[in-house]
Amino acid sequence: MVEVSASILNIKNENVIQTLYNLESSGIDHFHIDVMDGKFVKNNTSSKMIEYCEYLNNISNMPLDVHLMVQDVENYIKSFLTFEPNIITVHLEAAKDKKEIMNWINFIKQNNVKVGVSIKPNTKIEEIYKYLPFVHLILIMTVEPGEGGQELIPETIEKIQKLNKYIQKNNLEVDIQVDGGINTKNVNLLKKAGANIIVAGTAIINSNNYKNIVQTLKA
Ligand code: DX5
Ligand code: ZN
Repeated sequence: MVEVSASILNIKNENVIQTLYNLESSGIDHFHIDVMDGKFVKNNTSSKMIEYCEYLNNISNMPLDVHLMVQDVENYIKSFLTFEPNIITVHLEAAKDKKEIMNWINFIKQNNVKVGVSIKPNTKIEEIYKYLPFVHLILIMTVEPGEGGQELIPETIEKIQKLNKYIQKNNLEVDIQVDGGINTKNVNLLKKAGANIIVAGTAIINSNNYKNIVQTLKA
């Protein structure tokens, strides 16, 4: 069975705490924290995400899955480590070279946190193969990072298939997470392609029955 990581990027400003409670009891497996810095992507969500993580640390034991869409990766790793997340994912495109990305990977692991590397829709899947032995998770973006509520880019599905085949062939143990524009209509395509952690934001938030949606996404 796949896991669901609920993106709280677009939860309504009123009733934040109640919404977080409702999400937690809907059967999700992680809270997905979308950190944007206004540089790597246009939007800036850092202070909002810090505020949400503070709430979550107080009211919830649900694992936090932090997705860093930022340029100054090291400082953001440091500030989000304070919330004791389960996973921190960095973007391949934010690194200037392999050495830098390996430094981030090692730093995150030294803090006993799982590490993910993410790629944008236009980055070739082959570019992450060399990091597979060192990471827990690859996040394949199915939309351009930067905002919620976009439509999934169909060409990204082939990348999931390719990565899944490569992982099987090389006997690796790496999760495949997918993020952006995922809903109950397209989720089966992603699962069939090999994704095992589904990020969903608006599909869950905009429904009036979180439990039903989460169950359908997982089924
Ligand atoms: C996009 C973010 C996603 C996204 C998920 O930059 O990484 O997590 O907001 O939201 P939906 O499901 O609405 O695409
Ligand atoms: Zn995300």
